[in-house]
Amino acid sequence: MDASDMQEDLVEVLITEEQIQTRLAELAKEVWEHYEGEDLLLVGVLKGAVMVMADFMRHLPGSAPMDWMAVSSYGSGTKSSGVVRILKDLDADITDKHVLIVEDIIDSGLTLSWIRANLESRSPASVEILTLLRKPDAAKVEIDTRWTGFDIANEFVVGYGLDYAEGYRNLRDVATLAPHVYS
Ligand code: IMP
Ligand code: MG
Repeated sequence: MDASDMQEDLVEVLITEEQIQTRLAELAKEVWEHYEGEDLLLVGVLKGAVMVMADFMRHLPGSAPMDWMAVSSYGSGTKSSGVVRILKDLDADITDKHVLIVEDIIDSGLTLSWIRANLESRSPASVEILTLLRKPDAAKVEIDTRWTGFDIANEFVVGYGLDYAEGYRNLRDVATLAPHVYS
């Protein structure tokens, strides 16, 4: 769906579908050069990273496998709890693999720093992070993100995989949600 399908629920479109695709194409090129000849595994974090993964990997000029993890961090609210629980683990062993975590957004950073530490404990060759969005002003922990699509302000956003109470994930753009929706 497009922003025009749900105008009354949104304040404004922050990043358009087109801007996202342009940026993902740039990142895919950089990533491919970085891992040239290496055994690369893309690891997505469900469910928010579904759109990023689908589009990012199609911009890669060659083949790379993907795997998925699901963790709980937010419940249905808009604040990170810092409590992380694995709901679905990776299907495969990552020993000696170059793991690239593909994320939708880094807010407090609590979820991802936990996931990264968890994956690093499994003896991979390396672990790096690619995130479409990052909120620098919301960071509670320092987290080294090698590839970032866009830095955004500390506001709650939806669309392009990002949800509010499981809604709005299928919005094509990234937009700020009107306060009346969650108050
Ligand atoms: P963190 O632990 O605070 O970094 O939050 C990580 C997860 O919270 C992300 O993977 C998202 O699923 C979710 N999240 C954080 N900020 C937003 C937002 O603005 N909109 C929707 N989901 C968000
Ligand atoms: Mg998420």
